[in-house]
Amino acid sequence: MSERKLRAGVIGLGVGRAHAKGYIASPDAELVALCDANTERLNQYAAEWNIDGRYSDYHTMFREAQLDVVSIGLPNALHAEASIAALEAGVHVICEKPMATTSAEARAMLAAARQHNRQLMVCYNYRYRSDSQWMRRVIQSGRLGQVHHVAVSWRRETGIPGWGLFGSKAASGGGALIDLGVHVIDLGLWLLEFPRVQTISGHVRSLFGPYSRKTWGKSPSSVRDDAFDVDDGGVAFMRLSNGATMSLQVTWAEHSQPHEDAFRVEVQGTDGTAILHVRNYKNEDTLRFYTEIEGAPVTVIPSVNFDGHQGHAALIVDLAASLRAGTPPAATGEQGLIGVEILEALYQSAAAGHEVRIDGA
Ligand SMILES: NC(=O)c1ccc[n+]([C@@H]2O[C@H](COP(=O)([O-])OP(=O)(O)OC[C@H]3O[C@@H](n4cnc5c(N)ncnc54)[C@H](O)[C@@H]3O)[C@@H](O)[C@H]2O)c1
Repeated sequence: MSERKLRAGVIGLGVGRAHAKGYIASPDAELVALCDANTERLNQYAAEWNIDGRYSDYHTMFREAQLDVVSIGLPNALHAEASIAALEAGVHVICEKPMATTSAEARAMLAAARQHNRQLMVCYNYRYRSDSQWMRRVIQSGRLGQVHHVAVSWRRETGIPGWGLFGSKAASGGGALIDLGVHVIDLGLWLLEFPRVQTISGHVRSLFGPYSRKTWGKSPSSVRDDAFDVDDGGVAFMRLSNGATMSLQVTWAEHSQPHEDAFRVEVQGTDGTAILHVRNYKNEDTLRFYTEIEGAPVTVIPSVNFDGHQGHAALIVDLAASLRAGTPPAATGEQGLIGVEILEALYQSAAAGHEVRIDGA
């Protein structure tokens, strides 16, 4: 356990703001530096949190701010470059999802972490909800019997991000699948303790974004690459090494309940089915457990306690504690690579029109 708190920085002050709040809440870290190319944004949050270290260039930040750990909340295509620069400067990294836009980039990030003996972690914040954690404990307890299928989805009615560079393949590597799919694929695999995905058959479509339909949260000041050249939805079927299967459906846009934005993970076993269904980021009524008692079907409606940090704040508090204590982190770069490999294979399968094997499976 290190005597002093970790010196922490955040790059990219969109979702990076949630990382900053996590460091502020952490007893193991001190937020000392912020970086954003948008200096108005940078100065606004640095003033709000009273942070002296303000940088518009992250290389300068790594040279000057003497950081122990940095969070990277940049557009996807910059994750690899910024993470490798941080690792080379001797700084541990908590990178936003997806870890990278290609598996080659993700492998280069892992190689840099090994070479410089630093931790590379990925921000899978939905693992850090009380309901996700409860569901994992239920599965680990064996109450579901033999798990044979996992159905994961994230579906938005009007949810094509109207800010940032999400519609640009060059900046983001893909669309709805890489943005939302990566979260629910990770949740499904994390709940099952990471069986390997051996094959995938995927299909993607882009039916709303190219026509500027069903765009969400576009503000007059938001900068948006007008060319929309990514998927706005897709489906996939995966075979897992433990004999189970996983299905995926992701949409940024569809005709359904107005304003619906819901992710769902359904784990089916021989003795029970557990469902996590989070609507519009709310904590209420998110869990169901279906089983059988003495031959009669039984529905359990769990009510878990959401006190304490959740999501990004809980993730940062946990990862900062493990970094300071020198214990293995709970969300690793190796797990980040798995998500990137699956998405890459999904896009390959969609382009080829048939199922593909995943390397090393
Ligand atoms: N874990 C989650 O639930 C979650 C939620 C939202 C976004 N994300 C991820 O976070 C990342 C950023 O998404 P966002 O919604 O915050 O985007 P955003 O566009 O709102 O914010 C990105 C910020 O990075 C800054 N920036 C861009 N290039 C820069 C550079 N070279 N140097 C310094 N600053 C630079 C921009 O000025 C902007 O403030 C993406 O990878 C996205 O997938 C994750």
